[in-house]
Amino acid sequence: MNQPALPTKVKIVEVGPRDGLQNEKEALSADVKVELVERLARAGFVNVEAAAFVSPKWVPQMATSAEVLARIARQPGTIYSALVPNMQGFEAALAGGADEVVVFGAASEAFSQKNINCSIAESIARFEPVARAAKEHGLRLRGSISTAFGCPYQGEVPLDAVGDVVARMRDLGCDEIDIADTIGVSTARKTQAVMLRAAREFPIAQLAGHFHDTYGQALANIYAAMEVGVAIFHSSVAGLGGCPYAKGATGNVATEDVLYLMQGLGIETGVDLDQVVDAGLFISQQLGRKSISRAGNAIAAKRAG
Ligand code: HMG
Ligand code: MG
Repeated sequence: MNQPALPTKVKIVEVGPRDGLQNEKEALSADVKVELVERLARAGFVNVEAAAFVSPKWVPQMATSAEVLARIARQPGTIYSALVPNMQGFEAALAGGADEVVVFGAASEAFSQKNINCSIAESIARFEPVARAAKEHGLRLRGSISTAFGCPYQGEVPLDAVGDVVARMRDLGCDEIDIADTIGVSTARKTQAVMLRAAREFPIAQLAGHFHDTYGQALANIYAAMEVGVAIFHSSVAGLGGCPYAKGATGNVATEDVLYLMQGLGIETGVDLDQVVDAGLFISQQLGRKSISRAGNAIAAKRAG
């Protein structure tokens, strides 16, 4: 039987310190966030999303971003990323020494309004000076597209709406573009269709899959995306997270589960699963609850004998 070739190597972008923690009710101290980022970088991620320079009134948990970026002991070769919705955010990310800035838009108008208080076209206009400044300062530029597989307000999102925003992000000069399932509604074939539509506008090797696991489909979606050539995925240690502007959306797929899958498939990630399990146990303890990573919990139980 002919099976589609899977990549031999994938890049996992750890988004727990940002996407994961932004949705927590309890304020975590900068100390805890610094330790989490440091543990994750030591585990081998080449890219850790560590901060978001957004309005603290909108997302209070990210108010410590400047302190976190300033205090982390940097791991050589690790890219520390920060979300920036506008020039105010960019200036803060630059001052904090972010290696990569992430402009974040949406494929649905309704979500764009709820999340960043402007239309898709207005968001791209806000991103233009950010993109120019990132290039001037030699920072990597990533674009993130929310609701690419479905929107909590609008429902279906047409494939061409995704293609259109991918093209606009490409024209901004993005090095990488994230196709995000904000509310975790996609299933395998849909994932392939969206990724292939996005790949008509931008090289598939630079597209990333950002899957929330709300309906338990994230691992299947990652596998399906790999079948069509995607080799960059986002995940969150202990499955932390959600989005404050997508009611009911749960966290990103758990990093431990993704690493376990990749190990089983013989796909290289460069990340040490055991150290990620430890980081997951650490942050779960800080939050006072059990990790929702199935693989993380299974490995911890096995260790305990
Ligand atoms: P706005 O109210 O339209 O903006 O918000 P404004 O320019 O009129 O400014 C209003 C106030 O915000 C002012 O303060 C500004 O200084 C301040 P005031 O005078 O009222 O005291 N402000 C800022 N403060 C800090 N940093 C900034 C900044 N910009 C303005 N950069 C804005 C527009 C985009 C700022 C606001 O809507 C916002 O911050 N939204 C937060 C959105 C967010 O962080 N969402 C979660 C992350 S995205 C996500 O999770 C999805 C993703 O994971 C992919 C997926 O899963 O879909 C990436
Ligand atoms: Mg997200």
